[in-house]
Amino acid sequence: MDSTKKILVTGGAGYIGSHTVVELINAGYEPVIVDNFSRSDKTLTEGIEKITGQRVKLFEGDCCDKTFLAQVFKSAGPISSVLHFAAYKSVGESVEKPLDYYRNNLGSLVTLLEVMQEYKVHDLIFSSSCTVYGQPDQIPVNESAPFKRAESPYGATKQVCERILEDAYSTGFRIVSLRYFNPVGAHPTALLGELPIGTPNNLVPYITQTAAGIREKLTVFGSDYDTPDGSCIRDFIHVVDVAKAHVKAMEFLSSGSGSNMFEVFNLGTGIGVSVLQLIDKFIKVTGVKLPFVIGARRSGDVEKVYADPAKVNDQLKWKTVYSLEDSLLHAWQWEKKIRNLVV
Ligand code: WQD
Repeated sequence: MDSTKKILVTGGAGYIGSHTVVELINAGYEPVIVDNFSRSDKTLTEGIEKITGQRVKLFEGDCCDKTFLAQVFKSAGPISSVLHFAAYKSVGESVEKPLDYYRNNLGSLVTLLEVMQEYKVHDLIFSSSCTVYGQPDQIPVNESAPFKRAESPYGATKQVCERILEDAYSTGFRIVSLRYFNPVGAHPTALLGELPIGTPNNLVPYITQTAAGIREKLTVFGSDYDTPDGSCIRDFIHVVDVAKAHVKAMEFLSSGSGSNMFEVFNLGTGIGVSVLQLIDKFIKVTGVKLPFVIGARRSGDVEKVYADPAKVNDQLKWKTVYSLEDSLLHAWQWEKKIRNLVV
């Protein structure tokens, strides 16, 4: 491996992006972050520096802004690959603000591809999502499952993004699209984790904030689904496992021959866990109280989905290392750290 390889990481100050920047540095790469801090915070870039002991070059700006992005490519020096995390990611919010989601998630991808083309950078890892499957007919779901109608505008943006990549790759790109299931947890050092702005939309940060006393109680969105305990089923995967998969995907791309390529991989554990099971596990693992009530279904939610990870296990030689217990414990350690709690 060439240790001088510069990797552009859009959204590198965000939750998954920041953990991936750490793994890139651990693997000897030189990440360069682009972030507009619309959904992230400088705290995470400080966390990266504390863990790795390295200062990471950062360009502050919006990936939808072509002039800005072109300037980044010009001044960062030769970039070998791009990891594109920058996007909006809340299912619930996307139902309320669909146009924001289409403008941001599609606009940033198209702009990025145009600038990559201009600067002759060909290798791209794209952050996709299991929401592209909609509610699949068969679970565990594998990569060849057809896209059903996306349940939310967020999911629809990821479907369209993948279609854009599928159409564009033959014009000279080598692309891996990683379909994340539900990334959770935090860095084991508690120096990096999820930092939602305002009220969290996602389950695990809502749980940790409730356990920390910031939220009064958690609401379980629906207990009348067609699942064993009536709550939704998801595939919760540790964020560091997700981050490490990006390094593998990048190496898979750079070792491949040919100038055009488009591959998709599920990034999940293969284990389905219900919302109520996860709550129970959190209480057991941390020993803290977690007040919760059962509420109405949340619009845009898929009933149940978990991954068939056979393709990623086999072709990227990657599999998950951390358990759900690790994820929940690390998420709680991070929450305690940022709130200065001694619980
Ligand atoms: C999980 C479950 C909720 C909050 C996420 C990402 C999306 C994506 C897939 C990639 C659901 C329930 C939640 C709460 C609850 N892909 N819930 N009470 O919607 O599966 O989507 O993973 O990254 O980007 O957002 O995740 O954490 O919002 O919800 O009962 O207060 O928890 O209904 O069943 P979701 P989530």
